[in-house]
Amino acid sequence: MTDRRSFIRKSIGVGVTLPFLSPSIAGAESIFSTSKAEGPLIMCSRGTGWGERVLAPAQEIMKNGGALLDAIEKAANVTELDPDDMSVGYGGLPDEDGVVTLDASFMDGKTHNCGSVAAIERIKTPSSVARLVMERTDHIYLVGEGAFRFARAHGFPEENLLTDRARKVWLRWKENSSDKDDWLPPEDGDYGLEKRPTGTINILGFDANGDLAGCTTTSGLFGKIKGRIGDSPIIGAGLYVDNEVGAAGATGRGEEVIRMCGSFYVVANMRAGMSPQQACEAACKKIIDINGGAANVNFNDKFVALSKSGEVGCAQIMGNDKRLPHLSYWAPEKGFQVASGSYLIET
Ligand code: GLY
Repeated sequence: MTDRRSFIRKSIGVGVTLPFLSPSIAGAESIFSTSKAEGPLIMCSRGTGWGERVLAPAQEIMKNGGALLDAIEKAANVTELDPDDMSVGYGGLPDEDGVVTLDASFMDGKTHNCGSVAAIERIKTPSSVARLVMERTDHIYLVGEGAFRFARAHGFPEENLLTDRARKVWLRWKENSSDKDDWLPPEDGDYGLEKRPTGTINILGFDANGDLAGCTTTSGLFGKIKGRIGDSPIIGAGLYVDNEVGAAGATGRGEEVIRMCGSFYVVANMRAGMSPQQACEAACKKIIDINGGAANVNFNDKFVALSKSGEVGCAQIMGNDKRLPHLSYWAPEKGFQVASGSYLIET
């Protein structure tokens, strides 16, 4: 029997220099390139402190025999609803006009279906809306006002996403971004953030049947031009899942990830035989090559990946800060695991 969804588809047809490049930094030997896990496994692109908290609801759902998509969504919601996380969801840093706009994507490996929202405003949990785009529309991308109206139609409340803390960071940035306008910084010289952060979270996983799924969610680049969207909502850039192979996600400077189809690149390399770790490293190398070498890389990008057999990988370009690449995962027989990746370039 052809359901309405199948029928619709069938009838439509369808500024720092980098002195060295280190392929394996001391003390950060990856445990992931050889590790294997059976049964459910859920991972996120953040490490100690965050990983356990983000993955806790996912762990509960999977332990109780729940659905992988529910587990991933609830994990993403943890960061989205946290006002202290200034890079995702509620409390995220705003665009140049002081407006918080959010990007998110969802992909189900079993069906190869996906959904995204970009530049959505006034909705705290864009990952949940992206999932509904995937499951309750015949489209893949909804942006801006259309995404907002779709969320409202599904009962999401309209809410102010700009916390006082984020507003103050934005105000200081605004007051200091030019000496040719009339905005003046406070006399105490508190100029706020020196860097313009991009923060994002990827959640990837597979269930007891080996079916994969993933989600990426972010508030994007702080101070972005209104209307800018990053890699997070772009299927193949900030997220890609292929049930035959594995899943990958990206964080960091989205423009770099978009122009090399980052997550698709990682999964394609896994399909060609690389481990998730090797594939994440290859993606970092590709970005460095595109930019003409490590000396020209003054931004951060990170890739995380999960293979269908349970191997995980993580690699990061660290062009403008010293954070280690890391991720957390939960698997029933191992509990929570946190570790660094093994490939990065440092400032
Ligand atoms: N990776 C997040 C962004 O560039 O918006």
